[in-house]
Amino acid sequence: MTILVTGGAGFIGSHVLTLFVEKYPEYHVYNLDALTYAGNLENLKAIESKPNYTFIKGDITDETFINELFQKHKFDRVIHLAAESHVDRSIKDPLAFIKTNILGTTILLNAFKDTWKNNFKDKLFYHVSTDEVYGTLGQTGLFTETTPYDPNSPYSASKASSDHIVRSYGETYNMPYVITNCSNNYGQNQFPEKLIPLFINNIINREPLPVYGNGDYTRDWLYVKDHAIAIDLVFHKGKNKETYNIGGFNEWKNIDLVKVLCQQMDTKLCRPSGDSEKLITFVTDRPGHDLRYAIDASKIKNELGWEPSVTFEEGLTITIDWYLNNDVWLKNVTSGAYQSYYNKQYNKNT
Ligand code: NAD
Ligand code: TYD
Repeated sequence: MTILVTGGAGFIGSHVLTLFVEKYPEYHVYNLDALTYAGNLENLKAIESKPNYTFIKGDITDETFINELFQKHKFDRVIHLAAESHVDRSIKDPLAFIKTNILGTTILLNAFKDTWKNNFKDKLFYHVSTDEVYGTLGQTGLFTETTPYDPNSPYSASKASSDHIVRSYGETYNMPYVITNCSNNYGQNQFPEKLIPLFINNIINREPLPVYGNGDYTRDWLYVKDHAIAIDLVFHKGKNKETYNIGGFNEWKNIDLVKVLCQQMDTKLCRPSGDSEKLITFVTDRPGHDLRYAIDASKIKNELGWEPSVTFEEGLTITIDWYLNNDVWLKNVTSGAYQSYYNKQYNKNT
């Protein structure tokens, strides 16, 4: 089987790729990635010289290139992760999200359709999506697979659109697909623009921790390797044309999570207890900030037997240790263009 993984140099993609390349030597796994600011081949060191792995640098919005690539390799299956993925960036530059997440996904779908015409036996287009397509919850309730889509940010709207287009190819062209909608991930290799790695990096450097609004927003956190395990399971055992929600059964208010992170960082860095908490700074809220995300993952649990394998405490410890032990990785990704993003996003003049 030949599998095309898109966005494999990014955060989640690197864990999915590593799992597939190591676990399935009989598959040939291609990694197509444009290596944007979020893509980093350092994330794939463990598998870069494996015989069943090939890296291809390329952009999913380049239609001619994508069509030629599919004609050349005739990928049996696609796991599509490539995307612009950060909500704050989508507020500043929505068009980049529309282009990659909607147009790019459609170009891949077309190339897949044209490769296999009507002969889709054993083929699969696996679309990796987010719980943010469902919009926001109030204080109670959970997102299920039948919750109506109601996205609020350009990021989530672009992912919602791409989900709809994938479904439409299933209905119109009978293309086999699965979609998974996952909650917030954390773990090794995550670019330090998202909450947990950003705050780890800022604590290390004794920089302010910019909590949006009053910090009273809730997210459901899942350790990234558990997401990769779920993707493996759905890839092999998921039902055609089905959606599965994936979540951590692990809701945290931002401010509570940040305080736990501060305590753990104080211990790891041998700083006095309470030292990192002093860095917490409440800043202007994100426009259209979704109040709460929480996933009902009972479908994947009941049908496929998936559950998170690590607790949040375990996952957070592994994550913090990884960032502390990989200071060169962290320094590399936070040099250059990162600084100008950071200064713009957090109104820093220095
Ligand atoms: P990421 O931003 O870390 O990585 C995205 C990768 O896609 C990068 O390697 C980047 O170089 C590549 N890419 C971007 N534009 C491209 C293009 N035009 N052509 C080819 N490659 C391109 O993202 P992530 O956090 O790993 O998310 C991966 C997927 O999972 C996304 O589709 C995202 O919507 C979804 N998701 C993420 C989370 C999360 O918490 N991070 C949760 C649920 C779902
Ligand atoms: P983030 O990691 O960007 O993920 P998402 O917006 O996709 O859920 O943000 C997680 C939560 O943390 C979200 O409620 C926004 C908040 N947040 C801050 O308070 N400050 C920050 O600097 C960032 C990046 C996020």
